[in-house]
Amino acid sequence: MQEVRIPLSSLARRVCVADTDPAEPLDALQRPLRDLRISVTDRCNFRCAYCMPKEHFGPGFKFLPHAALLSFEEITRLAGVFVRLGVRKLRLTGGEPLLRRELPRLIEQLAGLRSPEGEALDLTLTTNGSLLARQARALKEAGLQRVTVSLDALDDAVFRRMNDVDFPVADVLAGLDAAQSVGLGPIKVNMVVQRGVNDHEVERMAAHFRGTGMVLRFIEFMDVGSHNDWRLDQVLPSRELVQRIGARWPLRPLQASKPGETAERWAYADGGGEIGFISSVTQAFCGDCNRARLSTDGRLYTCLFAHQGLLLRDWLRDGRSSDADIAAQLRGHWRQRQDRYSQLRLQPGVPAAAKVEMHFIGG
Ligand code: GTP
Ligand code: 5AD
Ligand code: SF4
Ligand code: SF4
Repeated sequence: MQEVRIPLSSLARRVCVADTDPAEPLDALQRPLRDLRISVTDRCNFRCAYCMPKEHFGPGFKFLPHAALLSFEEITRLAGVFVRLGVRKLRLTGGEPLLRRELPRLIEQLAGLRSPEGEALDLTLTTNGSLLARQARALKEAGLQRVTVSLDALDDAVFRRMNDVDFPVADVLAGLDAAQSVGLGPIKVNMVVQRGVNDHEVERMAAHFRGTGMVLRFIEFMDVGSHNDWRLDQVLPSRELVQRIGARWPLRPLQASKPGETAERWAYADGGGEIGFISSVTQAFCGDCNRARLSTDGRLYTCLFAHQGLLLRDWLRDGRSSDADIAAQLRGHWRQRQDRYSQLRLQPGVPAAAKVEMHFIGG
């Protein structure tokens, strides 16, 4: 993967480094920056074939050495800079974020950040749920507001096959219960649907989560990374799922709750709660994408499908760059952003470049 290293000092000669510009930047397609997704580890205890297939991520795979990881203090410092640029939501991801040691300490630091208006940020985390039962309380006490849990099947055999490490579904369900009982809600449950793999579990998942207060969301299988053998014929279009579920439990569409949302929201007409559909393949939502991603080793990716990231770690460690310097550079970087991969994916002539792996920058 190509790496972009720009010594801040060399840029400083060309642009004004003092952060005198209070504006929240818009990118080249007029999109603000609102959501920062922070990967706290590139490791995971699952090997979902669509994300970290065992053949590639086997025992010999070299994960990042500890020294390459951003420290909690470095993450918090950067998050604070991003808040100056407009970020109001922080999502911790991985790999599996709950594998990062002492994570509640980071959460405590992030929970202390405030917007310029003095408000707390939306602070959340995406997890595979395997370690949630034992960590839910500590996460809540540290200041985490809510969690999103990935769960691709309720059938134990299907679930074990999909996580590919023989992990039982009951433990994830226990994690969901624990999260709910300590108040880490509203909880979202993400199911990646792959035709011929777990699409027969869709109705069972809907039935299970209806009326629980948890929001189940179906995600179209995406071509993330370079190793997941993505095939368009394995994508189950959300339209088809809306029809299937709506035929059993009538649905009505809901308004987006905020701009730039990934999921299209629907409600069960009988009051059974809400479900969502994340349709990156068939109905790309790049038009108002306000998300940036910070990799475990401190690179900034402005798209889930980017093939290069801007290395911020050097700026944090050069002993010279102030927060204002970094803010000024990031502002300029965001203003040049033109990413809209999901809108281009199926167009002829779009080159299949080596994309960043999802376990490295989170979902
Ligand atoms: P909420 O505020 O809880 O609704 O969060 P969210 O929908 O932004 O975050 P979540 O991590 O739950 O995202 C759900 C899934 O949508 C991810 O796991 C990805 O599969 C997918 N996703 C999230 N952001 C993007 C994005 O920018 N582009 C694409 N193509 N997919 C995304
Ligand atoms: N397609 C769609 N979603 C994916 N995720 C991981 N890989 C893919 C993919 N290829 C989702 C996981 C989890 C989040 C981290 O990203 O299910 O919810
Ligand atoms: Fe599966 Fe999430 Fe781990 Fe990827 S990071 S292998 S999607 S559990
Ligand atoms: Fe945003 Fe890139 Fe996803 Fe489009 S493909 S929504 S630009 S992250």
